Amino acid sequence: MQGDLERVLFDEPAINRRLDEIAAQISQDYRDSELTVIAVLNGSLMFMADLLRRIPLRLKLDCLSVASYHGKPEASGEVIFKQVALPDVIDRHILILDDILDSGQTLAAIRGKLETAKPRSIRICVLLSKKKQRARHVAADYVGFEIEDEFVVGYGLDFMEGYRNLPYIGVLRRELIAQQNNRP
Ligand code: IMP
Ligand code: MG
Repeated sequence: MQGDLERVLFDEPAINRRLDEIAAQISQDYRDSELTVIAVLNGSLMFMADLLRRIPLRLKLDCLSVASYHGKPEASGEVIFKQVALPDVIDRHILILDDILDSGQTLAAIRGKLETAKPRSIRICVLLSKKKQRARHVAADYVGFEIEDEFVVGYGLDFMEGYRNLPYIGVLRRELIAQQNNRP
């Protein structure tokens, strides 16, 4: 797997240091709140597990799974919720966790859907945020790292469902993405 990376962006110590900082911030901000964390699977799995173990608050955890047609033309920007029932969010302070903010489509759809269930507040926490113009306006309240507009894998993030188990985050070699795109 390592040979498929152009370079490593954030190694394990760098990720851990940043998680300590974000967890401290979240713990402080929600110290007097009824917090429900909603993690977006599968990409946020490692992030969720490592971040939440650093937050010593009484919180509830729920997960959502969505299918978004990423990489396809923007017009098909539909986000399909795989659950029938939404987590119970009424009157709770909601913190959505996701792996990466790219076009913003996925998080805009999730936030919109959760808003209909009348939570007390909604904030967004992402491990990575790409510096780019977004198709949908979504701002994250907590961001692990800002990155350039490059395709990254590892620590939960995938390419064609692979690389999620790499313990660090790196930029995937461009030829690999091109090869895949050229397949019939
Ligand atoms: P958005 O809806 O365009 O913001 O995309 C969000 C989803 O696309 C993320 O939750 C990821 O699953 C996927 N994604 C976007 N950029 C990357 C990347 O660089 N590497 C891996 N997955 C990505
Ligand atoms: Mg993905």
